Amino acid sequence: MQNKFEDLKTQAFLAIKVIKDSDELVALENKLLGRKNGELTNLMKSLKDLSADVKKTVGQLANEIKTEIEIGLDNKRRELRQAEWGTLIEKERLDITQPALPKKERGHFHPNTIIQKDLENLFISMGFMVLDGPELESDYYNFTALNIPETHPARDSQDTFYIKGHSNWLMRTHTSPMQVRAMQKYGVPLRTIVPGKCYRNEATDVRHEHTFYQMEGLVVDKGISFAHMKGVLEAVARHLYGQDTKVRLRPKFYPFVEPGVNGEVTCYLCKGSGCRLCKNTGWLEIFGAGLVHPSVLKEGNVDSKEYQGFAFGFGLTRLVMLKYGIDDIRLLESGNMKFLEQF
Ligand code: PHE
Repeated sequence: MQNKFEDLKTQAFLAIKVIKDSDELVALENKLLGRKNGELTNLMKSLKDLSADVKKTVGQLANEIKTEIEIGLDNKRRELRQAEWGTLIEKERLDITQPALPKKERGHFHPNTIIQKDLENLFISMGFMVLDGPELESDYYNFTALNIPETHPARDSQDTFYIKGHSNWLMRTHTSPMQVRAMQKYGVPLRTIVPGKCYRNEATDVRHEHTFYQMEGLVVDKGISFAHMKGVLEAVARHLYGQDTKVRLRPKFYPFVEPGVNGEVTCYLCKGSGCRLCKNTGWLEIFGAGLVHPSVLKEGNVDSKEYQGFAFGFGLTRLVMLKYGIDDIRLLESGNMKFLEQF
């Protein structure tokens, strides 16, 4: 009988030794100590058939062995748990001496795009749609349709790049050709803005560039007046430079509007008292505008007796230069990273 207990103990400790996880541990625990059919439990039950004094010595041994096995199992349990924690801790280990990983380079918008999107949102909030137009434009849309016939001197001030062998095609000198295109395509009433690249044949310097951005605006409806135009332009000026910004409109000739104006806003730097930015005038010139000329409406298939409209053109590039204090226009198209990374 004693031997049976000793054998069981030996078997038990061999089994405990090779346990690999807590499932196996629970299984072995049941197999040995389970209330119903545990091997040790059964063996201990059979003690009752022994004579009283043998029962006493063997019983004592049996209890000792039971305790030893329980301690063996407990030790194994602790060992397994420690191993588990060990791998967890190892997984979460943080090596604070590891050199920093290289920073991921992230792109960002070009300053032109920042201003363009900002104004697009403002105009969308006023019910305008945003249109794109072709940069390679026909002579007709760029000039003729805008009341600038072939011999008109206004063509001289907007010399541009022509396409060899295709004298009717040119790089658009302003976004205004989209006025007639939009009217032809969408009809009236119409409220639209057209941001985009324009080109001119310039001797480049700090203020002149062959490639620049404008934002055209066109509203055509019944009963549109100069007051509507002024209201919209004032809203834009206040959005750009603050609530107390004033707009000054002075007559200027553009063949496609009548009357035509040159639009200025109070200098945001000196608030109108005169400084370097506004060349001591107190005003910054930022757009051209006017009421759409009847012959332009006619080109757009719009009856000028029924409909009126206003148009404006912002120098987007100029707005960018003013906003960021850029003093050389050529930087904007230069692709110079040192310059671009500042925005
Ligand atoms: N297209 C004109 C320019 O480039 C600006 C303008 C647009 C003026 C619309 C009046 C109306 O200078």
